[in-house]
Amino acid sequence: MIISRLELSDFRNYNELSINLSSGTNILFGDNAQGKTNILEAIYLSATTKSHKGSKDSDIIRFGSEEAHIRTILSNNEYESRIDMHLRKNKSKGIAIDGVRLKKASELLGLLNVVFFSPEDLSIVKDGPSVRRRFIDMELCQLDKFYIYNLNNYNKIINQRNKLLKDMVNVPELKETLKIWDMQLINYGTKIIERRISFINNLNEIIKDIHKNLTGGRETLKIKYEPNSTLDNYESRLNNSIDMDIRYKSTSIGPHRDDISFIVKKENGEEIDIRVYGSQGQQRTAALSLKLSEIELVKKITGDTPVLLLDDVLSELDNNRQNYLLDSIGNIQTIITCTGLDEFVNHRFEIDKVFKVTDGKLESMD
Ligand SMILES: Nc1ncnc2c1ncn2[C@@H]1O[C@H](COP(=O)(O)OP(=O)(O)O)[C@@H](O)[C@H]1O
Ligand SMILES: [Mg+2]
Repeated sequence: MIISRLELSDFRNYNELSINLSSGTNILFGDNAQGKTNILEAIYLSATTKSHKGSKDSDIIRFGSEEAHIRTILSNNEYESRIDMHLRKNKSKGIAIDGVRLKKASELLGLLNVVFFSPEDLSIVKDGPSVRRRFIDMELCQLDKFYIYNLNNYNKIINQRNKLLKDMVNVPELKETLKIWDMQLINYGTKIIERRISFINNLNEIIKDIHKNLTGGRETLKIKYEPNSTLDNYESRLNNSIDMDIRYKSTSIGPHRDDISFIVKKENGEEIDIRVYGSQGQQRTAALSLKLSEIELVKKITGDTPVLLLDDVLSELDNNRQNYLLDSIGNIQTIITCTGLDEFVNHRFEIDKVFKVTDGKLESMD
């Protein structure tokens, strides 16, 4: 699926915008704070219903306006499709596909797949566990409708359970009701753990070759799931931690405390956890491998090619990695933001459309 057209109204710093995109490489360039990333955000919303940076709808609506609209026209070889998204200040968003309103936002998932790559992604290996969990969650939500359902329910129950733990200080009898919450928590939590296990298995099958190529055969990368609890010990660990949870008024056991590690095996067979012992270069290369694997994983699971959104990321990479990235893109639709065109001048790769972004307006340069 490709995006052939994007229309925005009262979205971030755009009053009205409508652009036609190429099915190849599209460049948006311009100074800082002009609205380049905002366009990628609109596309990300059309694919996932959420902002890539987790912004609320009310922050996305243009200052002084009451609502925002995004219209995305998609096409593949056989047909066209239209996504309309309507953001309102104090209500949930309205979404329609080809004019038919969706009952739940999650029904949209799967129609358009995107891979978003920003400079922050390059530090995913060295950042804290929450960043890595967010990566897994965002990815799985796109690829798996059941995951988002289980995750939403899990998070709701965690919040309710934590509130109960706080209320228990004054009403100790509430401890009895904890059991009911915990049964549901284990139900949803188990499904999250199962899906994460298979996600990481799938990812490992792909990342191995990518990382090997990227490092010229010097390193092999493996992602290791580090669950807070396993499928076998989750229930008993949760039960055994009840007194501690009451003391700290928060839930200490479960997949909301999971992590993944990045294990690099060197030519001499030595294995290191590069979260802790990797050089910055190693950590960034692993992050790039991860992003490239994401593209392949989406292809494999959905049978569709994702749209690649590269937000200011090329200037962050050295020449080798830049070339590797651009070479791996192949023939998927790509939208690249950057501050200048210089970085492309010496490149052999083809640019199909170029837009200059200035203060919420786009000027086509071709
Ligand atoms: N809700 C909003 N309404 C109007 N302008 C906004 C809103 N949110 C952000 N902006 C403006 O958008 C600009 C930043 O856009 P962004 O796409 O991040 O820029 P860049 O070109 O650097 O990627 C800033 O000028 C900011 O003030
Ligand atoms: Mg930006």
